[in-house]
Amino acid sequence: MKAIVYTEYGSPDVLQLKDVEKPTPKDNEVLIKIHAASVNAYDWHFLTADIFLIRLMGGGLLKPKNTRLGADIAGRVEAVGRNVKQFQPDDEVFGDIGHGGFAEYACAPESRLALKPANLSFEEAAAVPMAALTALQGLRDEGQIHPGQKVLINGASGGVGTFAVQIAKLFGAEVTAVCSPRNLDQARSIGADHIIDYTKENFTQNGQQYDLIFAANGYHPLSAYKRALTPKGIYVMAGGSKAQIFQAMLLASWMSKTGGKKMGGVSAKIDQKDLVIIKELLEAGKVVPVIDRRYLLSEAAEALRYLGEGHARGKVVITVEHSSKT
Ligand SMILES: NC(=O)c1ccc[n+]([C@@H]2O[C@H](COP(=O)([O-])OP(=O)(O)OC[C@H]3O[C@@H](n4cnc5c(N)ncnc54)[C@H](OP(=O)(O)O)[C@@H]3O)[C@@H](O)[C@H]2O)c1
Repeated sequence: MKAIVYTEYGSPDVLQLKDVEKPTPKDNEVLIKIHAASVNAYDWHFLTADIFLIRLMGGGLLKPKNTRLGADIAGRVEAVGRNVKQFQPDDEVFGDIGHGGFAEYACAPESRLALKPANLSFEEAAAVPMAALTALQGLRDEGQIHPGQKVLINGASGGVGTFAVQIAKLFGAEVTAVCSPRNLDQARSIGADHIIDYTKENFTQNGQQYDLIFAANGYHPLSAYKRALTPKGIYVMAGGSKAQIFQAMLLASWMSKTGGKKMGGVSAKIDQKDLVIIKELLEAGKVVPVIDRRYLLSEAAEALRYLGEGHARGKVVITVEHSSKT
């Protein structure tokens, strides 16, 4: 089968489309014929090792341990291991399989998958898992979001941000989206009540305060985020610039020790129950994936290069075409 493979950290130029052996599912695994995948900053970090911690935390110190990329997928079950209970051949599924999704086939534990929302194409479904889980868990679990709160999403126009705006609205919040001028209409169309153009206004300096700030992208010093919170407000960092990520990792819990404000972050987990919640929201039309660009598997390097520029509008997806033999 065809798969995207890389054997050294680097730019998207190191990615190769190769013939590799089709995988066989273990007892608890499902073999999926992949029809679409989506690209995440997660893939970018494993490709480039731009965050050094990737090398220390199992990515491989000098070269990638796992030579395959692609977490978010949607496809059709081709075979199941003998202990698999929830899926059978021909089921359409979607999920976050960690690595190996930029390929014609992949195996994954059933716990990382759910049935694909019936009303979505494979491309639309593949656009969802990691970004939507991050938004849901960040707002609900870390952010303790509840109705009537003033919630601000910084970086509202990317993969995570477009889900965060929609999910915060579903929780009954009054949502302010922060994005650049070219994405103002998009933010409005997915339900933001207020929009701040970050090229014209710094929301941490305008005197407004929010019950919950969800930082999907961009950068502000942690002290500035704290200033923009109401007295019992919560800050949740999902991602953004390296400075934003490291400040939250190193200083957030220390900064939460004084006063009533809570500073922290979200680390999304592949939780099948949450994936099913998201599936139901998608089927009810309450959440809609926003897709920016589509590429073919052979163009995965272009897809990653575009994502790596940092200005994707919603999600970047990869369509996996199958040669007649597979
Ligand atoms: N914690 C977790 O478990 C977890 C899970 C998934 C992702 N993440 C992290 O979350 C972050 C966002 O992921 P993503 O998938 O949303 O990325 P993405 O789709 O690549 O984000 C691109 C968007 O970011 C916006 N942006 C860029 N600079 C900005 C700025 N200074 N202020 C506001 N918005 C800005 C861009 O909008 P403009 O073009 O308008 O600037 C663009 O729409 C990444 O750092 C990723 O690693 C974390």
